[in-house]
Formats: sequence, structure tokens, C-alpha cells
Amino acid sequence: MTSDTKLDKVEHAMQPDDTPEIRALYRAFADEHLMPLWTQLGDLMPVHPKPKAVPHVWKWSRLLPLAKKAGDLIPVGRGGERRAIGLSNPGLDGNAYISPTLWSAIQYLGPRETAPEHRHSQNAFRFVVEGEGVWTVVNGDPIRMSRGDLLLTPGWSFHGHHNDTDSPMAWIDGLDIPFTQQMDVGFFEFGSERVTDYATPDYSRSERLWGHAGLRPLSQLQNTPASPIGAYRWEITNRALTEQFLLEDEGQPATTAQGHAAIRYVNPTTGGDVMPTIRCEFHRLRPGIETNLRQDVGSTVFQVFEGRGAVLLNGITHTLEKGDMFVVPSWISWSLQAETQLDLFRFSDAPIMERLNFMRSKVED
Ligand SMILES: [Fe+2]
Repeated sequence: MTSDTKLDKVEHAMQPDDTPEIRALYRAFADEHLMPLWTQLGDLMPVHPKPKAVPHVWKWSRLLPLAKKAGDLIPVGRGGERRAIGLSNPGLDGNAYISPTLWSAIQYLGPRETAPEHRHSQNAFRFVVEGEGVWTVVNGDPIRMSRGDLLLTPGWSFHGHHNDTDSPMAWIDGLDIPFTQQMDVGFFEFGSERVTDYATPDYSRSERLWGHAGLRPLSQLQNTPASPIGAYRWEITNRALTEQFLLEDEGQPATTAQGHAAIRYVNPTTGGDVMPTIRCEFHRLRPGIETNLRQDVGSTVFQVFEGRGAVLLNGITHTLEKGDMFVVPSWISWSLQAETQLDLFRFSDAPIMERLNFMRSKVED
């Protein structure tokens, strides 16, 4: 804190009827780097979460052309590492944070380009709303990236990307960068300038080993903090959601609410979240469905995968189309409305909030 800011805080703490002795006491506190609780209780312990982050919608129709322009103007390579453009929450002082815990970006890789390998403590995933042709190589395992796929890069895994085609490709990244930055827990290492394996298999080794529902390889009995599956494929996600609606039609309890199919991507070794800090889910609403208004502790981000609808954020309705992204900061009220069938990818910091016992939700009937 600069001495000016400190002085401001001291001046702010003083009340008109404070005696000269009290004023002197506040100045003495400031000189010793002390701050009294009683002058700032409302900020330190609000009666409910009062996030600085604000709800916000980013339109894919604006994100994608800007990413393309960055592809024309900005090279990708060692140093900058990635052509990733972070979604900066308007309430968070110009940081490229979408929420106090989460980072999200649109990443763009031009024809035949390679994003070099590196690794970091931060957990990361990619979700593909359109396009194909890029392989992400995670710890030497080349993983195809196609529409609707969720790709994982758990913390401290070496990873790079390469585009095997003559067309560019864009996708979204999600990471726990703000959380790791505020906790001062991040490490980073450069890896190979080129990806270590330019093979382009349809299925990664991790999927061949682990991608068989309900079946655990007996060579892999040790649980891992993050999922060992590199890619969660769209055809499986789509089938799971389709079956939930078919079961609902048969009168079976399969959906999370009438007309609302949903799945959570899980770590098959534990049944828990795919990574220690990030939860990933996919939601599908039938046309005309409106979800209950709710508030949750922690922050969550959605991307529309397909369809049209709207989200109500703090009482304001925002229309949604394919690719649009929005953030719901802690305790902001929200509900979804589907005009057509509405498919949404979702990620959140819920594993942190649940593990630390801070999670609370309020749902209106
Ligand atoms: Fe990375």
C-alpha cells in the first residue's frame, strides 16, 4: 500500500467528532502498519458476499473476429507462449480475470502454427465450440481437439498445441490463474519449443486406457487428484444428455429438473471433479424451459454451445447465441431461459468452495 493510500484510509476512518487523541491513535496505527477492524467491518465481513466482479456477457460474434485479427498481427511462440485473449471482468480493476478465482480466454492458432510446450501449477482445460484440426499434446500424448470436446491439462503437465491444417482454429481456455496468483502458489517451466509428438491420432493414449465407461484398468489403481482422461468427447456427452431426455419421456428420474438434462465431467479414479480447483459441466434445456432463480457461492462461467435463449443476471435479461460467454460472480442471482433447445458448457470454482466448506446456495421455487 502506498503511503498516500494509507493516509486516505486513516482519514476515511476518522469521524467528525473524533477527539485529537483518537486521530493521533489512527495515525500511530498507520505508522506501524496497523488497521483497526471497527472502521472497516462492513468491507471485511459483509452480511453476504458482495463481489467486486460483476455479471457480464461476452458475445462470440465480437470475440471471434478480434481473435482472428490477433492471428493476423501477433505471432505465437516462445515467451508470449499462447495467442490467448483473456476475458477481463469489468469489476476487477483491469486484470485479465473473469472472476476472483477463474481465468478464461479465447485462444487462436493459425494454419500450421505450433504453441510451444510448457508447464505450470495452474490447472487448465480447453473447450471447443467450433472448428477442428488442432492437437494438444499433454505430457507427450497427442489429443485431438474437435467441436464439443473438453480437453484437460491438469497442473504441472507439459503441454503444447499444433495446428495440423491450413485453417485457423479458436477455442476457449479455462484456468485457475487468479486463484493461484492471489494465493502465491504458482510455478512455471518452459518445455520444448516444438511439441514433442506431431502425430495426429483420432484418440489419445489416455482415452484408449481410460475412456471406457465404468471400466478401470487394473494397472491404474492409484487415485489421482486430477482426471487421467485427456479428452471428454462430444459424442459421449451428447449421448448422455439425449438419454436423459429419453428417460424423462419414459417417466424415469433422469434429469436434474423437468426439461433440464445435465452432466458433470468427473475424475474416474475418485468420482469427484476433473481437477482440484475447477468443476466442468454440460447443461441442456428443452425449448421454453426456464430454470429456477438461484444464487451460489463462488463464481461460474458458461459458454453457449448451441441454441438461443437468455440469462437473467441480477434482474437484467441478456440474450444468448452460440458461443456467447457469461460469468456469474458469487451470490449474483441467475436463471436461464431456453428459446430453442439450449446447450451450455459450464465451469466453476465449486471444488474450492466445497472443499473449504464455504459453499452455500439459495434456490427460489
Ligand atoms: Fe499453459
